[in-house]
Amino acid sequence: MRLTMWASELASECLSRPLPRRLTHVLGVRERLSQTKDLFSADEADLLAAAGLVHDIGYAERLAVTGLHALDGARYLREVEAPERLCALVAHHSAAYLEAGLRGLGDELAEWADERTPLRDALWWADMTTSPDGEVVTFEERAAEIQQRYGPDDVVSTFIQLARPELAGAVERTEARLRAAGIDYV
Ligand SMILES: [Fe+2]
Repeated sequence: MRLTMWASELASECLSRPLPRRLTHVLGVRERLSQTKDLFSADEADLLAAAGLVHDIGYAERLAVTGLHALDGARYLREVEAPERLCALVAHHSAAYLEAGLRGLGDELAEWADERTPLRDALWWADMTTSPDGEVVTFEERAAEIQQRYGPDDVVSTFIQLARPELAGAVERTEARLRAAGIDYV
């Protein structure tokens, strides 16, 4: 739990004052991820919980440089010497490479590799099934809410439409793994 505790402090330091709703979301994501802990080793569950907590820190104004929160978050984490795997998970969470392409930041994000593992799928699943208020929602509800919040002309709405198949894939694979392990995740 060492990394999780560190990430918890960092998330609240970055998000609590400027972006309390974002903090509520990441706490919900962390809670959601606790349902997956039996799918992973203790060290991996610690890493995954930490990733859930810090995946959105790049939204904090003081960290936002490029406007791509996944990239800004990963760069900050590297600066504070977070483990490389954690930086990469944050850089690539929830199909960020597609938004990077839309924003002309594909090369910058490609400094990190998307590990494409069950652990990374679980992070995407938790992010895509947790509302901005930290509640459990379906992937369809989450995608619809994002498009509504940003409006039809925003790059984020275009991104969500593009990313839908990949995001849904990560959600389906994670839920299949949870079912196979007999874990009730709803
Ligand atoms: Fe998120």
